[in-house]
Amino acid sequence: MPRIFCRLLSVPLLFLAAAPAVAEDFTTYKGHGGPVMALDVSPDGQLASASFDNAVGTWPGPTWLDGHDAAVTAVDFSQAPALLSGGDDFRVLYWPADRSAPVELTKHQGKIGAIATDPGTGRIATASWDGSIRLFDTTDAAQPDFTMQELLGHRSSVTDVAFSSDGRLFSTSSDGTLRVWEGSGGQLASRILVNQGFGINRLIVTDAWIAYGAVDGATRVVDHEGQEIADFTLDRRPILSMDYHAGTNQLGVGDGHGFIMMIDTAEWKITRDFRAMRQGPVWALAFSNNGAVMHAGGIEDVIYAWPVELLDQYDPVGGETRSFLRAADSMPNGERQFMRKCSICHALDPGPSRKAGPTLHGVFGRRAGTVPEYRYSPTLDGSEIIWSTETINALFETGPDHYIPGSKMPMQVIAKPSDRADLIAFLKSATAKE
Ligand code: HEC
Repeated sequence: MPRIFCRLLSVPLLFLAAAPAVAEDFTTYKGHGGPVMALDVSPDGQLASASFDNAVGTWPGPTWLDGHDAAVTAVDFSQAPALLSGGDDFRVLYWPADRSAPVELTKHQGKIGAIATDPGTGRIATASWDGSIRLFDTTDAAQPDFTMQELLGHRSSVTDVAFSSDGRLFSTSSDGTLRVWEGSGGQLASRILVNQGFGINRLIVTDAWIAYGAVDGATRVVDHEGQEIADFTLDRRPILSMDYHAGTNQLGVGDGHGFIMMIDTAEWKITRDFRAMRQGPVWALAFSNNGAVMHAGGIEDVIYAWPVELLDQYDPVGGETRSFLRAADSMPNGERQFMRKCSICHALDPGPSRKAGPTLHGVFGRRAGTVPEYRYSPTLDGSEIIWSTETINALFETGPDHYIPGSKMPMQVIAKPSDRADLIAFLKSATAKE
């Protein structure tokens, strides 16, 4: 008995106060092959993650949903087990409950910024960098008979959308405005509630207030007419992610400096503010359903889950695995080229790999489009190209968009012949089969 007492005394006070309520430990979810861009928790407590590796993961699991042809940037799991995802391939995919083949809900003309579902009516709103919002009036997205309304008004990328519980739609944009969409029956039109001046990235809408985070670091709370309620702007920018847990009155805010700030929305005060990520931004945040755990994603291939009570007791995570962040002068040029320009999408070992591109292991002498299990574009699937010094050189001399038009590999030219030569020399040794 005295011994236990001693041990308790030796732990920090905050921990002692919080300990009885803390059932969870710090956890990591591993398996993605690229940075984590968006997170959402379903009503039954599952986590969905959207990644630069072109996949959506659901946890516990993971189960992988492979359907996008580019980074997945938005995910909505509010209708679980069905799921909506949107990506840099401009598409919004609806994954039915049985997770069979996805249905393409829509294809925008720019990347997808956000997806929201109106809990009351089942309407779906998709926001795109093409400047439009598309509103789908349907309770069953899998049926092709939904009606779609295109909402135009923002002057540049639409970054986020959210519904209030009375079914009103709000949106934010890199044009610096926060808007509400109004009009009954016919076409909705937007009215500006806030003109922030700088692009607004993230939006949370409740019945009592609206919170938003902007490129200039502004973290503000306004009422439904845009009147200020509170301002939590610190010296960090941009604000990249937000999530709200109504039951515990907590608003989480993630930024480009790797910090997570927690705001108590009953008292309007900052309760915690800590450096979560050692390297890079906090792109995604999602509370667990009981509000006791905060999930976050960023530049690492890992999803982190902290018990909220202990958030600020942990050292920042990450910083080891992203080799392109290693000091550039510590590597020879060919390796540096690869680390900076290819490693985020390509592995060098035999795999299996969950990166966005196929592994380059054994690429020299290999016919294009032939890594088993990898979902190639029609361009590479069945291609006659054999990868060699000459063909890989040509690929990056003219760029994939010219050399293999229609490919999923993004446009990229390596202009300097010596950089291409160094890269190819590095690849030759690093991808060689024993
Ligand atoms: C943003 C992700 C991304 C980056 C960065 C990237 N690639 Fe790719 N790469 C892909 C994807 C996706 C494919 C598959 C293309 C398809 O199916 O059309 C691919 C295909 C390839 C292929 C053909 C492989 C095969 O099996 O046929 C080669 C070779 C290749 N990449 C080399 C490179 C090199 C070298 C770099 C760096 C200079 C690079 N890639 C950078 C995503 C990327």
